[in-house]
Amino acid sequence: MNSFDIRQKFLNFFKKQNHTIVPSSPLIPAEDPTLLFVNAGMNQFKDMFLGVEKRSYTRATSSQKCVRAGGKHNDLDEVGFTNRHLTFFEMLGNFSFGDYFKKEAIEFAWQFLIKEIKLDSQNLVVSVYKTDDESYEIWHKTIGLEKERIFKLGEEDNFWQMGETGPCGPCSEIHFDKGSGVGCKTKHCDPSCPCGRFIEIWNLVFMQYDRQSDGTLKPLKQTGVDTGMGFERLSMILQKKDSIFESDLFEFLLNKIEKLTGKSYAKSNADAKVVFHVLADHVRSSSSSIADGGSPSNERRGYVLRKIIRRAVLFAQKLEDGDLFPKLAETFIDVMSSVFPNLKTNKDLILNVLRAEVEQFSVTLEQGQHKFFKYVKENKKTKQKIISGEQAFMLYDTYGFPPELTQVMARENGFEVDMRGFEKEMAKQKAQSGKKEKGGKELVSLPDSLETEFVGYDLLECTSEIIHVEKDGKFAWVVTKQSPFYVESGGQAGDHGWITIEEHAYPVKKLFKSGMGDRPAIAAQIVLEKDKESQVRVGAQAHCVVDNFKRENSTKNHTATHLLQAALVQVLGPQVKQAGSQVNDQSFRFDFTFSKSLTKEQVEQVEQIVNQKIQENLELEIFCTTLHEAQNQGVTAAFGEKYNPECVRVVKIPGFSSELCGGTHVSRTGEIGCFKITSEVALASGTRRIVGVTGPESVKLFQQSFATVKL
Ligand code: SER
Repeated sequence: MNSFDIRQKFLNFFKKQNHTIVPSSPLIPAEDPTLLFVNAGMNQFKDMFLGVEKRSYTRATSSQKCVRAGGKHNDLDEVGFTNRHLTFFEMLGNFSFGDYFKKEAIEFAWQFLIKEIKLDSQNLVVSVYKTDDESYEIWHKTIGLEKERIFKLGEEDNFWQMGETGPCGPCSEIHFDKGSGVGCKTKHCDPSCPCGRFIEIWNLVFMQYDRQSDGTLKPLKQTGVDTGMGFERLSMILQKKDSIFESDLFEFLLNKIEKLTGKSYAKSNADAKVVFHVLADHVRSSSSSIADGGSPSNERRGYVLRKIIRRAVLFAQKLEDGDLFPKLAETFIDVMSSVFPNLKTNKDLILNVLRAEVEQFSVTLEQGQHKFFKYVKENKKTKQKIISGEQAFMLYDTYGFPPELTQVMARENGFEVDMRGFEKEMAKQKAQSGKKEKGGKELVSLPDSLETEFVGYDLLECTSEIIHVEKDGKFAWVVTKQSPFYVESGGQAGDHGWITIEEHAYPVKKLFKSGMGDRPAIAAQIVLEKDKESQVRVGAQAHCVVDNFKRENSTKNHTATHLLQAALVQVLGPQVKQAGSQVNDQSFRFDFTFSKSLTKEQVEQVEQIVNQKIQENLELEIFCTTLHEAQNQGVTAAFGEKYNPECVRVVKIPGFSSELCGGTHVSRTGEIGCFKITSEVALASGTRRIVGVTGPESVKLFQQSFATVKL
């Protein structure tokens, strides 16, 4: 059976059992800061399990794209060296939200495996959580599985949770048993043994708890079922292969590597096969992540993506073709676009980002390797088979070698890396840069209980009571009950303004927001004056006034970026995604995913569309709703932005643009006056940047450009 049919069979089977087929969500979990990448089918249903979101169904099924590299579930180090680990895979799942529980979940799974795809029950064993007698009995009595084929295992194997916090519960796993002649061949071998005899294919999680940040388990309002089956593993088994990499999902990639390098996979020794595996896996995860809005960087998920690409480059080099990886990506995109259409939409972007990354790393790769072998030689003299923390840090800091890469090279040379030492060096560097930052930032630490009501969407001034004062030398941070001051966030610069206390006006030097909730405290920094110091006290009235001239300009620029985004999508296509923005009273900057430089005509077209919308003087609609509802309405959310899914703010320019946004906006587009792009450039990360202005400044620029036209 080919993998396409397997995927379809699974979804159809559960559809027949009244499950709604839900499409895979993107790999970048926009609304969940606790996750680096989507790592399980249940991620998109997290709030349903927590009981804070209701949808029209209580049973769902999906084939979800997942990446497990970094974070709680991390398989990166294993990939290539085993025949079953991947960084990117699809997870086939069925889900119940307060609907069925253990019995039906186990029955469905068994029915699918035995009746539907006709696996031999003699090849299957299961495990249950050590105290979960109920599941044990269902497997034994209802399904009829012999006791010898049911294993009770501990927390590590049979208790599943998504991340450090969130929904979790005991689980029961189904394993394919390759027989006692495979693996470690010991009597006590069971599914927890990594020897390779047992291959976990399906995990049935019985969701019962919400793990709190202090580690305690809070019972969920309703129980649920979250199952996940490794699609690639199932394909391998059904296609009677010994390795995931021999299934049809990888075969075409291995063939392409053979073609590009002239080397045969079948004739390769185990070490050389590792290279084939790494490339075939990493091309899937990196291309898919970029298609879903990821871009390599030095932080969080961007850094994981960079690590994957650099790991691929390191291995690719063994097959001697500098451009191998992007060429392989082209094949992956061409073949898999029928399953994941956004690969095709973003083809140029993916290839450009990969090429840029490969090129960038190739520059230091050779030097770094040279340095590494120098360390190996030196350390051999001292009979140490360890790359020290300092050395690993040097490779990281100077040559861009993530420690995982140094580990790969160390492993090949019979060395180990002192990872603890590396972490120490890393912490040292952070502490040093932290010191510098603190000196420059002068931030303040405020009590958690403080809250301020932000009134600045509607008012530009207000009189309010001072609820906290933090004096710091000649400065004071003043927190008021209400505040009209917008503090820098979502790319929009903070306000300027004044605070008048006892008839004395203090210019606001800086603004600071403290606290994670819906009403963070807003603190404004002022310069104290000796004879008036006692007047700046808790309980006093403060008249807060926003510098309207500056705010107005920032506001116009902010609305302009929304118009710009919609215009870019119109002119360049749906692959345009916002990758960051910065707006102040002088200009705006808008970063977006697109692979090519814009032509002069395209820039003009974008300007024209935006100016047309300004002319139409459209009235903005700004309202709050749930994230779910906003998504249903097709509202655009910036990647990686954190939103409270229960209460998101939608900024809508009717008939043209709809975005989630916490910034300030004009009431009607006409207020912007005019819009002009001043530059359009490529960024090192593979994304592009547009810089522009609005209002009189933009009119001036247009006039200048007209003046240079010869009549
Ligand atoms: N969430 C579980 C897993 O990822 C089952 O889907 O294994």
